[in-house]
Amino acid sequence: MATQTLPEIRARSFAQNLESDLAAQFLSVVENAAIASAHTMGRDDRHLSDQVATEAMRQTMDGIPMRGRIVIGEGERDEAPMLYIGEKVGAELPDGSEVPEVDIAVDPLEGTNLCATGAPGSITVLAASERDGLLNAPDCYMEKIVVGPSCKNAVELDAPVADNLKNIAKRLERDVEDLVVIVLDRPRHQKLIAEIRAAGSRIRLISDGDLSAGIAAAVLGTGVHAVMGSGGAPEGVITAAAIRCLNGYMLGRLVIDKPELEERIACMGIKDKNKIYEAEDLAPGKRLIFAATGVTDGALLKGVRFFGEGTRTSSVIMTLSTGKVRFVDSIHVEKGPNVKVRFS
Ligand code: FBP
Repeated sequence: MATQTLPEIRARSFAQNLESDLAAQFLSVVENAAIASAHTMGRDDRHLSDQVATEAMRQTMDGIPMRGRIVIGEGERDEAPMLYIGEKVGAELPDGSEVPEVDIAVDPLEGTNLCATGAPGSITVLAASERDGLLNAPDCYMEKIVVGPSCKNAVELDAPVADNLKNIAKRLERDVEDLVVIVLDRPRHQKLIAEIRAAGSRIRLISDGDLSAGIAAAVLGTGVHAVMGSGGAPEGVITAAAIRCLNGYMLGRLVIDKPELEERIACMGIKDKNKIYEAEDLAPGKRLIFAATGVTDGALLKGVRFFGEGTRTSSVIMTLSTGKVRFVDSIHVEKGPNVKVRFS
């Protein structure tokens, strides 16, 4: 490695401190959104669950000293009252000193139906980077394969499913029959599901939430070995930020099946609609932050627990340039002097 000069070392450490400071603040953003939406769990009102998460996220973000720009959000400006694409978020410092420019991709409540029905796997989540560090993906589907660090370059989007599974099994030193693949339970996945079954792997069909499933696939010990099938492209970009921090592997291809999407990607400067993206293309930032909090219990994160005046949240916060993955168990005692803290 080339020797760094003192100014280079200082600049690097400044950038890393900034990343860590911002990460701590983004943690509060996802925690507050999770607490707000968890209050609506099981009310069968997906709109309300999403609305309260969005409001809490927006409000907390506005206390962070940054020049933030939403690049993936709740939709275009005319369809979303807040956290819409292009919206400016964050606060200036009172003394006018410099604040960082940050691009942010949010999914205030990933798995709104899961929260509305009290089913497992809903999270509040965001990814952030320096300017232009996250692909401004259109709101369409993306074909995806997500696997863990041992399976880098072991899968291809157009390879037969059986071949991909054979390669994953080989890398993980186990039989194809031992693998667990997560697939969104959708009619469009009938062929994929049949092919996985024919190959002999086990399947976990999920009703929603391929983002948290993708993260689980990149973390050893979750019992998830791959995620396959098409889900939201915006979710794909946020997944990619996590996958980079986790040294996982991911492939994605936009599903451009409507003329308006052709126009949208042309505006974005995407020339090849069949391009296969890796995580580095979807989230190319040098300084990436990923933050998520469980709303309902999931493979990786516990859901929000309320106990009297206190609240407990379970989150993961990852930073790329400082190379940290932190699982954060927070007990929110700010509500009053009577809140008791329990060890576990
Ligand atoms: P929400 O965040 O809107 O609840 O989306 C959940 C989700 O299941 C994603 O995890 C997934 O990528 C996408 O929806 C799949 O879309 P569709 O329901 O149209 O198949």
